[in-house]
Order: sequence, then structure tokens, then C-alpha cells
Amino acid sequence: MATPAIDVQNLTKSYGPVLAVDDVSFRVQPGELVGFLGPNGAGKSTCMRILTTWLPASRGYARVAGFDVMYESMQVRQRVGYLPESVPLYTEMRVREYLAYRAKLKGVPREGRTARLDYCIVKCRIKGVENRLLGTLSKGYRQRVGLADAMLADPPILILDEPTSGLDPVQINETLNAIKELGGRHTVLLSTHILTEVEKVCERVIIIDKGKLKLDKTMKEIETSEPAYAVEVRGPGAVVGAWLKEQPELSSVEEKKADGDCTEFEVRGTGGTDPREALAAKVLAKGWGLRALALRRASLETLFNDVVLRRPPEPAAEPVEPAAPPGPAPDAAPAATAG
Ligand SMILES: Nc1ncnc2c1ncn2[C@@H]1O[C@H](COP(=O)(O)OP(=O)(O)OP(=O)(O)O)[C@@H](O)[C@H]1O
Ligand SMILES: [Mg+2]
Repeated sequence: MATPAIDVQNLTKSYGPVLAVDDVSFRVQPGELVGFLGPNGAGKSTCMRILTTWLPASRGYARVAGFDVMYESMQVRQRVGYLPESVPLYTEMRVREYLAYRAKLKGVPREGRTARLDYCIVKCRIKGVENRLLGTLSKGYRQRVGLADAMLADPPILILDEPTSGLDPVQINETLNAIKELGGRHTVLLSTHILTEVEKVCERVIIIDKGKLKLDKTMKEIETSEPAYAVEVRGPGAVVGAWLKEQPELSSVEEKKADGDCTEFEVRGTGGTDPREALAAKVLAKGWGLRALALRRASLETLFNDVVLRRPPEPAAEPVEPAAPPGPAPDAAPAATAG
């Protein structure tokens, strides 16, 4: 088996009392395009900073392109393009001038450097602003310059922290298409809050919440997982619910919402069978009204809701205010591929 592009084992990171990443393990194979999902504060950026060597882990280890992020950081940086959450840019430089400087820094060979620069500028749709000062760019354009920077040295692995944040809908689509084209030849780990973005470009999704890994599945596994059915019955809700739970065709019954004398349940068939016809006949035979009976395929949204949104409420809020993020000094080279 090939060396994983990213190999994370029992990774843990505490910021003082805040446990930002809690014993997370996963592997990404070369060429995979993986979505890294989680609500605000889940630990996505912290994980990505550790993977790109900009932050040390408290426990556990990570290997990227076969190199240890802690002890072989230069080898890792040479192989990783990183788009950080907030892109550090030299405000007084012009876009093209900055990218040319970055390409040189990353060791992009002199012959072919201009062509590579042109390619990344076109791919990230920043041709129109290439002579603008970085300090005058809007957020979306800064993000696109950051993406171009991450792609400059054509690194085998790209770690992109919210690559579409701040982009307008047209740009989101174009950026996602550009990222999708990277798949196969490149390994991509991208974080986002937008589930549809993951559905659109990723082959696999990893969900973390409160620092813990909650789900790691391929989109295929999600699509083919056992479907649920929405059943809406007009009748005495509690009685209907109890009766549904007794039906041998159903393996699970969950009340979703009640509206007057109508109650909606989410049910699953026993052994993955489709219970709809049998259920429809039985509900009618009971003298109740059947308002709806619909197949509800497992989607990323239902899974995300299951693992993240339906967690029990926490008694206390976050204990401390986050301190200034560690990492390179402001006047150091921006966090992306070193070269
Ligand atoms: N430098 C820091 N000092 C203290 N706590 C921090 C620091 N950076 C992050 N944290 C805390 O670690 C946790 C994880 O933060 P992180 O930025 O990794 O989350 P995230 O998943 O990227 O969130 P978002 O979706 O909002 O970007 C949060 O509770 C955050 O407040
Ligand atoms: Mg983040």
C-alpha cells in the first residue's frame, strides 16, 4: 500500500485549558480530495496548522508526504501548499510581484517560472488585479491570491483552510471547479462550513466537533447508506408512535414534529428493506390518514445534523478567550509552501 499522503495518529492539541484537538486519527491516500467539516471552533484550523508544521501538537503525531511534521518540517513544507484561514500578505506589494517573489522563495525553477505564474493567476482568476497593491484587495481577491500562492510550486498535497470563504457565488463555483481539477493528481484536504461544497467536490468527508473526530466516510458510503423514510400520519400522535415501534417492518422510529393532529416520524426499514407499501396499507387499515410517505436518502446534511447538531447541550461556554494565534512572526514569510 502506498504511503498515505496524510497520516494523523492520536493528534491532540491544547491551548492552555482549551482542548482544541482531542485524539484525532485519520489517513488520506494520495490523490484523495477530502472535505474537513465541523462547526466554528471544532478544531479544523488547529489541525491544519499542525499538518502544515506551523503549530506543534501536544500529543500524537502527523506525517505528511511520509515526513514527520514535527521533526521533518522542511521536507513537509516543500510538499504542501497551504492556504491559511487568514491569508498573510505584504500589503505594499503588487499581486504579480508578490507571487513572483513567493515562487522564487519556493524554489520554482527560473525557466518555467513565468509560465507557472501565469497559469496560477489564470486558474485563480486574478488576472484583472495582477498589478494591484495587495493592501487594496477585497477579501475574496485576497483569498484567491492565497490559493494561487498555495498552488505555485505545484505541490503534491494541498491543505486549504476555507478556500471559498469571502467569495461571491460565481467565484465559489469557479474556485471549487479549480480545486476539483486538482483531485487525482494532488491530495487535497479542504475545510469549509458549506456542506454542498463538500458534496460537489469531495470524495470523502471527515467531520470533527469539539476537537473530536465524529465521522469519516466516503461520499459513496453516505449515498448508499440505509435510507430513512418520512411518514406523516393524521391520528393520535402518541398512539401512532407506539404502534409504529411495534411494526416488524421497521427497525427504528423517531418522532420529528407534530402539527395539530398530524405527526411526522422518521423510520427505517428492517434489514434495509423498503417498508413503504406494507406500512401504507397498515396505517390506512388502522383508520388513520396517511399524509405523506417519502424516501429520504441519507445526505451529508442529515449525517452532519446527526453527529453535530443533535449533540446534548453543553452546560458551560468556552472557558477562556483565545489568545493571539501562534505561528510565524508577522514579518516572516507567509505560511504556505516553503521552498
Ligand atoms: N491561539 C489560540 N489560543 C487559545 N485557544 C485557541 C487558539 N486558537 C484556537 N483556539 C481555540 O481552539 C478551538 C479550535 O479552534 P479552531 O480555530 O481550530 O477551530 P475551527 O474549526 O477552525 O473553527 P472555525 O470554523 O471558526 O474556523 C476553539 O475553541 C478556539 O477558541
Ligand atoms: Mg478555522
